[in-house]
Amino acid sequence: MEKIRILGGKALEGTVRISGAKNASLPDVCASILTDQPLILGNVPEVGDIRTMGRVLSAMGVETDIRVGGVVELRAAKLTSVEATYDLVKTMRASVLVLGPVLAREGRARVSLPGGCAIGDRPIDLHLTALERMGAEIEVEHGYVEAKAKRLRGAEINFDTVTVTGTENIMMAASLAEGETILRNAACEPEIADLADLLVKMGARIQGAGGSTIRIEGVDRLHGAEHTVIPDRIETGTFVAAVAMAGGEIEIRNCHPPHLRSVLDKFREIGVRIEEGPDNLRVRAPRTVKPSDVTTNPHPGFPTDMQAQYMALMTMANGVSTITESIFENRYMHVAELQRMGASIRVDGRVAQVRGHTPLNGAQVMATDLRASACLVTAALAAKGETIIDRVYHLDRGYWRIDEKLRGIGADIERIDRGSDSGQRATDHAQIA
Ligand code: UD1
Repeated sequence: MEKIRILGGKALEGTVRISGAKNASLPDVCASILTDQPLILGNVPEVGDIRTMGRVLSAMGVETDIRVGGVVELRAAKLTSVEATYDLVKTMRASVLVLGPVLAREGRARVSLPGGCAIGDRPIDLHLTALERMGAEIEVEHGYVEAKAKRLRGAEINFDTVTVTGTENIMMAASLAEGETILRNAACEPEIADLADLLVKMGARIQGAGGSTIRIEGVDRLHGAEHTVIPDRIETGTFVAAVAMAGGEIEIRNCHPPHLRSVLDKFREIGVRIEEGPDNLRVRAPRTVKPSDVTTNPHPGFPTDMQAQYMALMTMANGVSTITESIFENRYMHVAELQRMGASIRVDGRVAQVRGHTPLNGAQVMATDLRASACLVTAALAAKGETIIDRVYHLDRGYWRIDEKLRGIGADIERIDRGSDSGQRATDHAQIA
């Protein structure tokens, strides 16, 4: 199993290019199920989660051609299976995104329940209730969701909680349903608007995506399309956090600053100097980091996917900051690892208090989930001495060659194999659990 070794204390300098958004690409590739014609997507990041989704789709008979350079061509001429098995779904929760489209196209679907998740209890009850309201018969048996519906009917759906993949699943299903579906309390994340843009290119009738009420007028057929995925806002935010912690000044290209307004506002408030262009950012590390409280919230609030990286940064602040995680109940797995690096953090339920000005020291740490691993990387860049991060596959699920990108802007970072801490580089950057 690969590890990453980082020698902290090197300021960052240069230009980094942001990849396409993983969380937009995942639903976008699933939209291929809705048509028998080809879908060509550009700017898809070659990360582990996309390869996993490729396997889920291939197992259903979707021809998937993941090309170098971020182009993915998919064609679901005929589905040979309506099932997403436990083996695949357990490795990636987002596999449930096939449920809505498969049911809408084939009239039935069999999808494994995702099971436990490192960051908390993550049910899919809201996806299922919404499909039931659209006329689906749903049974949960032997760990699988079995859904049937001759043709889904449009319905008015009020989500009790804002759910990103739930909104995406139902938006895809409703595109081929009979009549109008209205989604209220829908998620407003930019990835939802990206999926809606793609679906509209495929012939869907959707209004309001990106806002909390979405109207979808179902159509009988969708057709092929070409689409370029939006830049990854969380990767962008992670690089802002990286330079804020490591020091230096970098240019971040191929990003979309309006998608991370709350993050940029917060970073500016604590002293990071940021200049915005239409698709780029120039970021200079703060002279001193001011402490500031933050609460994670659905978009346009501060994203839970940036909470860990923000926490790492607050260990450098000259005071105490309070972080409240309001989306997931157990998303503080990185705290114990940051403490091993010298951080002073106290957690009480969903609230974490970070006492700043505790110099971080390199240590051996363990990545526990995707964003937790990102925070260990940013912390290691600022730490004194060497940090070895184990279980790098978590990082590779969502960041495309983060080690190469960081090395390109001056970080002392390399991949090493288990048992060869002497520094031998691993050749395969793409190992997934
Ligand atoms: C998506 C993102 C993930 C991000 C999260 C929150 C993808 C592939 N993943 O995850 O990176 O951290 O949004 O922004 O896009 N809930 C229910 N019942 C449901 C569905 C959700 O109770 O049926 C709850 C969850 O437990 C959680 C909250 O709603 O507390 C938000 O979850 P949700 O938005 O669905 O997260 P994901 O879509 O899984």
